[in-house]
Amino acid sequence: MIDADNVYLSENKVSNRDKLLTLSTNLKVAIVGATGAVGKTLLELFDERNFDYGQIWLIASSRSAGQIIHHRGVNHQVYDLETFDFRGVDLVFSSAGTATSKNWGRRIAAQGPVVIDNTNAFRMEPDVGLIVPQVNSNQVLHKLKSRIIANPNCTTIPMVRALQPVHQEYSLNKLVISTYQAASGGGIAGLEQFTSGSQLVLDNPEAIPEAGRFQAPLPFNLIPRIDALLDSGFTLEEQKIAQESRKIMGLPKLNVTATAVRVPVMNCHSQAIYFECDSRLDYSRLTTILDDTGGIILYRGIGEAEGYPTPRGVSGSDHVHVGRVRIDPDNDRAGWMWVVSDNLRVGAALNAIQIAEDLIQSESSVLCASAY
Ligand code: A2P
Repeated sequence: MIDADNVYLSENKVSNRDKLLTLSTNLKVAIVGATGAVGKTLLELFDERNFDYGQIWLIASSRSAGQIIHHRGVNHQVYDLETFDFRGVDLVFSSAGTATSKNWGRRIAAQGPVVIDNTNAFRMEPDVGLIVPQVNSNQVLHKLKSRIIANPNCTTIPMVRALQPVHQEYSLNKLVISTYQAASGGGIAGLEQFTSGSQLVLDNPEAIPEAGRFQAPLPFNLIPRIDALLDSGFTLEEQKIAQESRKIMGLPKLNVTATAVRVPVMNCHSQAIYFECDSRLDYSRLTTILDDTGGIILYRGIGEAEGYPTPRGVSGSDHVHVGRVRIDPDNDRAGWMWVVSDNLRVGAALNAIQIAEDLIQSESSVLCASAY
């Protein structure tokens, strides 16, 4: 087993380590959506990864303005996005919902900072890079004229990380994906509605909890709809998975179709992925390349812990967990895998930080909005 992040760091970053330290200790950072589930995870990961900055501003809506968030021994006041001046900020992590990003993203970027946006607002825009550093970090600087980089959907990120090594070896041509997405994808409010609603039903089986952030009450239920329902009959979440995976992997003709389901799980999204390739699959080679890929933990056994990852088992992990790898007995160019990862970390905050780490080390010093 390989420790993904260390491999990733050592392969890509060591030569620039000194530059990283100099830049990052001066870096002026803001988090928009700092009071939310992804914003809080970003702060945790800043600590765990020793992500340095010179100054940080925590920003949310007027509802939270004036609140205090404690980080690295300092009490930070939360600022109101409406009145915040972004001039002089180098890097903005934005995770305050698609509507907020559509309203504010380009305006913030026009004031100087690079914006790493975690919403669906800009992902398919032609002038915005959609980046998963383990897959297409070579694209990070390509579209930076917009000064916005999009962080992909929380399901797409682990999916393309698990599939990229398969594609490199066998050439993917078709994907069929079923997702099992946790309540934390609905943010702090979604998590709270799920837990309080579950308690309500346990106390009184006749009670009907509120749907809240979801399309139907989530406790003891499955909801085969995430995000808007489109004229095509697919949901926006399903469309995102297809469009984003093609853009990130640079495979515009890849045949991708998905069903996305919200499940009564606190944290970690799971997915069953069926993949078809141009070449015949070899089980031993397939599992070896997955095992050798930085950031992936492969389960080769048959019991829980060895045989397959579960959402409860991997919550808090920074790896993509892959199990139940199988070759279709009726088609040796096709296979299945079961992929689980922490949607707040791997599917959101960790990817955003890894994009930032790539930017900080980029030769062109794009993160120089502020005066240094
Ligand atoms: P607030 O706490 O003030 O509502 P989550 O995904 O966990 O629900 O978090 C969403 C984050 O986005 C929160 O930090 C929330 O701030 C922030 N947010 C939501 N709407 C806006 C807005 N219109 N302007 C600024 N921040 C917003």
